[in-house]
Amino acid sequence: MEKLFSAVKPTGKLTLGNYIGSISNWVKIQKDYDSIFCVADLHSLTVKIDPKELTENSYAVMANYLACGLDENESVLYYQSQVSSHPELGWLLNCVTSMGEASRMTAYKEKAEKNKNVSVGLFDYPVLMAADILLYDVKYVPIGEDQRQHLELARNLAIRFNNAYGNTFVVPEGLYPKVGAKIYNLQNPTKKMSKSDDDDTGNIMLDDNLDLVRQKIKRAVTDSGSEIVAREDKPGVTNLLSIYCALTNKTIKEAEKFFEGKNYGFLKEEVVSVVIETLKPIQEKYNYYMNNKDFIREIAIRGKEKIEKQAHEKVKEVKQKMGLIF
Ligand code: TYM
Repeated sequence: MEKLFSAVKPTGKLTLGNYIGSISNWVKIQKDYDSIFCVADLHSLTVKIDPKELTENSYAVMANYLACGLDENESVLYYQSQVSSHPELGWLLNCVTSMGEASRMTAYKEKAEKNKNVSVGLFDYPVLMAADILLYDVKYVPIGEDQRQHLELARNLAIRFNNAYGNTFVVPEGLYPKVGAKIYNLQNPTKKMSKSDDDDTGNIMLDDNLDLVRQKIKRAVTDSGSEIVAREDKPGVTNLLSIYCALTNKTIKEAEKFFEGKNYGFLKEEVVSVVIETLKPIQEKYNYYMNNKDFIREIAIRGKEKIEKQAHEKVKEVKQKMGLIF
């Protein structure tokens, strides 16, 4: 079976964007691959975060993984910080990464512009992400569009390392959803829906109260005109159509046909109803897991035990190839 790896960082509450762009696809394909999913908690340290909040968010991400349908009998589930091979390989890869290519990462540049005190960790973040992926010889990485550049770096580092030291890493490929690879903010549909915004009126959080979800969708910004079509000059409507299609498994064409002659109010009602239908059962399970944190810990411990040896062996191979004697 081919292997795949992906992760979410627990910097805030998960959004509908994380679900559509990523987790919902993992759930669909976990059985077809040797699947590995971690909570990328070391990545959350790259920005200022209160320790208590990080702990709570870390439980919340795993609770959401389980609530959305990831199953420890189908996938390995654990926390990045449990397996020290992640940062260890990160260091080794740092030494084959150029300052130039790390400086070109747009996610870093955007965050660095907003924050005065940028950590070295934030700059180095894509290299740690490359290490996460390259540790396990995975063929596929299911992610949303915003991670494409980071995956490209992982691919480049794998190729460069293989050329310099002999074949060591599998060069991974991204798996992107056909619809919903980038879900946008409902109040500003040219900006990504994000878990780390100060203002959440345009972001649907997976644990939002369902009345609030309804309100947020009803207040979503739409575009001039009245046609319900996915088009560049209609970012608001296109975003609502993407959400609708991703959650109903319809194509954009089918949805456009369904909404032909209808008004924006009708579109929003339909989106409200599919989003609520999706979130309701997830929230019930999420609450159950958040009340059973010991269970989350047990799953993570079992996950770590299953995966640790592979990661360790890979780091050993890399160290040997680079000439380290122990
Ligand atoms: P993160 O935590 O920002 O996002 C997790 C996943 O959700 C996707 N995503 C979206 N998809 C569609 N629309 C959106 N608005 C949206 N927002 C987020 C992301 O593309 C991602 O797939 N660096 C990663 C975490 C990570 C990782 C890894 C991923 C660490 N190591 C190794 C893959 C492989 C991140 O910050 O994702």
